[in-house]
Amino acid sequence: MSSSDLNAPAPVLVNLQLNGEATSVAVPPHWTLLELLRYGLGQTGTKQGCDKGDCGTCTVRIDGEPQLACLTLAVDVRDRSVETIEGLGTGGEPHPLQEAFARLGAAQCGFCTPGMLMSATAYVDDLTLQDNPQVKRDDIAAALAGNLCRCTGYTKILDAVEEVAHSVLNRQRELAESTAEDE
Ligand code: FES
Ligand code: FES
Repeated sequence: MSSSDLNAPAPVLVNLQLNGEATSVAVPPHWTLLELLRYGLGQTGTKQGCDKGDCGTCTVRIDGEPQLACLTLAVDVRDRSVETIEGLGTGGEPHPLQEAFARLGAAQCGFCTPGMLMSATAYVDDLTLQDNPQVKRDDIAAALAGNLCRCTGYTKILDAVEEVAHSVLNRQRELAESTAEDE
């Protein structure tokens, strides 16, 4: 054992709900959530960009809220729920936002896309909880303001999120109307 091994801080155990699954991983106490995901668990869908809070590509949802994994200490997600791109959809069954991003050309190199999608899902989920939800382009842009994209010029990303937000709200209204008719 080298002297640097002897000086290394003891790992700490982090228990969390990751994409709905109880997960335990031992990590160095100074690791960020981004390091826990990518190097502790090998989940590389969450991207490592600037590593200092500027680009948004590491965005995940912690207890539903979009947060930057590169600025979150791993120990701070103990006993909390973390959602990442790996939990959003699969190639065979993509999330509607993933399908719309692909169809409308909202993902080009794709480096920003996981973080962008996590912010977008939070925006759409939040809309469904509002009393009188309105889809507004400015609100979508504000929700995605922390996610930088060097390829798309943003228009197609906004188009995709706007389309999905309308479709989710329309389905929610139809469901409410059919439930009211049944009563
Ligand atoms: S990698 Fe976290 S904000 Fe850029
Ligand atoms: S698609 Fe390349 S950075 Fe956004």
